[in-house]
Amino acid sequence: MAEPETTLEKTTSRNYAGDTVSTRFTDLIGCRWPLQSAGMGLVAGVDLAAAVTNAGALGMLGPQPLPPDAFDAALGTLAERTDGRPFGVNFLMPFLDARQVELAARRAHLVEFFYGDPDPELIRIGHAADAFVGWQVGSADEARAAVRAGCDLLVAQGTEAGGHVRGTEPRDAILANVMAAVDVPVLAAGGIATAEQAAAALGAGADGVRVGTGFLAATEADVHPDYLTAILTADGTDTVLTEVFTLDWPEAPHRVLRSAAERARSGDGEVVGELTAGERRHPIPRFATMPPTRAVRGDIAAMALYAGQAVGAVSTEQPAAEIVHGLMSEIGSSTRRV
Ligand SMILES: Cc1cc2nc3c(=O)[nH]c(=O)nc-3n(C[C@H](O)[C@H](O)[C@H](O)COP(=O)(O)O)c2cc1C
Repeated sequence: MAEPETTLEKTTSRNYAGDTVSTRFTDLIGCRWPLQSAGMGLVAGVDLAAAVTNAGALGMLGPQPLPPDAFDAALGTLAERTDGRPFGVNFLMPFLDARQVELAARRAHLVEFFYGDPDPELIRIGHAADAFVGWQVGSADEARAAVRAGCDLLVAQGTEAGGHVRGTEPRDAILANVMAAVDVPVLAAGGIATAEQAAAALGAGADGVRVGTGFLAATEADVHPDYLTAILTADGTDTVLTEVFTLDWPEAPHRVLRSAAERARSGDGEVVGELTAGERRHPIPRFATMPPTRAVRGDIAAMALYAGQAVGAVSTEQPAAEIVHGLMSEIGSSTRRV
């Protein structure tokens, strides 16, 4: 594999139309932009993944608590709507359904895992169906284990990140440590929600950036309106790394809006709301890990309102394609690595 150049020029050009940027990540996956949306459980569904992919980045379907038939149907819809462009599917190891991995690998360009020991058998399943396999890691040791297990691509996640946080190092440190430890493409994750932050991470050598919190304000994200308002009005000091929402996923630190952690702790009653799925209604217990989607009713402010430290830069709801173009507007043809 060719070594990337270490220098990366920034350009002030905002003319992204028709432009491409080449990194080891875009070369591997075949997308236009060195940008991946985070596969966020429940909130990153088919609509968001398709919109990101169709805007030229790598759209990710988040974990879906669906039986195999319904999951495959969702994948089929995503494949149809993206018309051959690359998309990926994310899995959380504590909730893994191996049947879903096989189905995803048949349709997706990338299957990707988070929060568990890198498992060669899962990687074999992905490769057997011609998918690339990625792992989001929280340390250089975990990165080495993932590459030993056969991964093609890694995401180095810093503690600025929204949602579950795997490691203990901030983004710049873990990016440098992971890049020094492995020679597969590495994406930087955590605290990236502006064009300048994306360009800086690429300038530090990342092969791409992964953005979660920044896509919570996409019109295609399945985010409850009260959660969206909380995201749009929060600033960077309003998040906390905590273990409050660990009812169904113990000992797993996560970054949420501080207000949500406080409200969940200060209330009483075992149930904070309900989720409607088809004809059925499911109670949402206090301290549950699920974030509130549009299908949720109840005390939204006391639910797991995941948000990263870059939340202060997220102030407008807009189509995912505009978010993609905004994030990539500080890089252009002069950032091409050849
Ligand atoms: C609402 C939300 C849900 C998330 N769910 C997942 C998930 O299901 N799987 C996963 O690998 N990462 C998940 N993450 C973490 C992201 O993969 C990523 O590390 C993080 O969003 C990057 O930091 P940022 O939020 O500052 O962009 C989630 C993040 C958020 C904000």
